[in-house]
Amino acid sequence: MDRKDLKPTILNGEFDKLAPGLSRRTFFMAAGAAGVGGAASLLSTTAAQAQSTDWTQPGNNNNVIEMQATTGNAVAGAVKIEYYGHCAFKITSPGGATVLFDPWRDDPSGAWGLWFKNPFPETQTDICMSTHTHFDHDAIDRPVSTMVLDRMVGNYEFADLRITGFADKHACQAPGWYNWTNALAEFGVNACPPDNVSHMDMVTYLVETGGIRILIWGDNRHNPPEEFWASIGAVDILTLPVDGSMHILSYDMGNDIVARLKPKIIIPTHYLNETVSYTLTTLQDADEWVKSQSSYRMLDSASLTLEAGEVAGMSNEFMYFGHNAHTA
Ligand SMILES: [Fe+2]
Ligand SMILES: [Fe+2]
Repeated sequence: MDRKDLKPTILNGEFDKLAPGLSRRTFFMAAGAAGVGGAASLLSTTAAQAQSTDWTQPGNNNNVIEMQATTGNAVAGAVKIEYYGHCAFKITSPGGATVLFDPWRDDPSGAWGLWFKNPFPETQTDICMSTHTHFDHDAIDRPVSTMVLDRMVGNYEFADLRITGFADKHACQAPGWYNWTNALAEFGVNACPPDNVSHMDMVTYLVETGGIRILIWGDNRHNPPEEFWASIGAVDILTLPVDGSMHILSYDMGNDIVARLKPKIIIPTHYLNETVSYTLTTLQDADEWVKSQSSYRMLDSASLTLEAGEVAGMSNEFMYFGHNAHTA
């Protein structure tokens, strides 16, 4: 076969043929509930669904080529944090390098319903990273990114960014009224370690830039082993998934993590944000948790700019993006 004969394959999406004995609906339900967003990968073992379209991205890597020569050189100045709703943040280093965490999407199986009002923005970033394979964290194809570091464990350095990924486990027992973790048992997989299904694996990221240490908690469990805490060390800015429904962490779990890490700033995540997410998420806002804290700021935009000097003077300051979120 000659290269010119390679043509795109069009699939007709007849998934019933892929799973004898299951109707299309029951297949999706089983795949979705067992996989929590893993249905697309389940399907991909038998049909080429959801292939990456990154080769169609606009732009090129000129920006990255320019900055790679500066790797390892610390740069003083402001660190920018932009919130895209749910657990998605873009961090811009003082040197201008950008990294985006946990772009979200709807569950491709449909089993978990409609969570988001729009597809994740095709925003430009040097690096795109994901903490785990759940649909509300893994739309790594949507941002226009030069690099994708999916579930990276270990150390990574680029320009004036140093990122460390710590492997741990997802919260596996819903602390709130919505027992979403029970669905995994109903479909025959273990949510909790040591025999957890792979999508309940997690990577938590520590980002060091501009003299500030930012911990991206993801959906990690509240009680990781001692080695986890020892590896992380001091944290200046901590993101935590706490909402009024206590979908991932309860108020007490969040408060205990804050008490242990003693961050300067806490940023709530994984809550109902009316700009990006639907009530169908079953999530609620984080207002009650934030307002129960001794010191908090209700931010009036989706952007936050901080310098190491001002962060050093803070203590347990909650900074809440509320319903603000970038949409482009
Ligand atoms: Fe998750
Ligand atoms: Fe999540």
